[in-house]
Amino acid sequence: MDSSIVLFGPPGAGKGTQAGRIVNATGKPQVSTGDMLRAAVEEGTELGRTAKGYMEAGELVPDEVIIGLIEERIKQPDASGGLLFDGFPRTIPQAEALQKIAPVSMVIAIHVEDESIVERICGRFTCASCGEVYHDLFRPCKVRDICNSCGGTEFKRRADDSEETVRTRLSAYHSQTSPLEAWYEGQGLLRRIDGNHTIDQVGEAISNLLI
Ligand code: AP5
Repeated sequence: MDSSIVLFGPPGAGKGTQAGRIVNATGKPQVSTGDMLRAAVEEGTELGRTAKGYMEAGELVPDEVIIGLIEERIKQPDASGGLLFDGFPRTIPQAEALQKIAPVSMVIAIHVEDESIVERICGRFTCASCGEVYHDLFRPCKVRDICNSCGGTEFKRRADDSEETVRTRLSAYHSQTSPLEAWYEGQGLLRRIDGNHTIDQVGEAISNLLI
């Protein structure tokens, strides 16, 4: 398997927003554990039933569940050229498990202040057809209620995007996920990006890392 890239940062930092640009530049498929879990919840699978309560509460899903999910994902044929991990790993045990099964060449860490995160997440909505990510203020549809990408007219908001749950997710990030930055820095893999700029400016900074 070729090396993979990790897109790292707090909830609402802009990982999903920037992932498409990295996929286009590298050809590595995006693997979002959040999207995989939400699909499982919607389908009502055993995984979904396990994950639902944790996600609604804003807590992390247990490591063994997530590691099992990734072990299965990297067996797919499209993983041979490496993957773009979005929202994984989120704990040291997850990173240690990843280290054993797939090489990582770069960890892109997007930094955003907590208060901006609350504002970003509470204004987020996505196209129900293609998943394109929007924001009430920062990234509205070009034509009201019509998706820029696919022309879809139905949109949804995530159940865990309330202010109260965002604060729990942030606290999980600070206590369980942020220690990973030092872990990856120690391996010389960490690249920090200031995410407190416009979507295009952050995208450009990320593109410069990929040259
Ligand atoms: P997950 O789906 O991974 O959510 P998250 O990490 O909380 O990240 P988000 O998807 O909320 O944010 P994002 O960084 O992608 O931001 P976005 O681009 O949308 O996880 C959900 C849950 O699943 C977790 O809480 C946990 O329970 C579970 N889970 C998932 N993975 C797990 C794991 N590995 N281990 C354990 N549990 C796991 O942007 C946000 C908004 O801001 C958008 O509206 C966007 O338009 C706007 N925006 C983006 N960039 C900018 C900018 N530069 N300026 C202004 N607005 C911007």
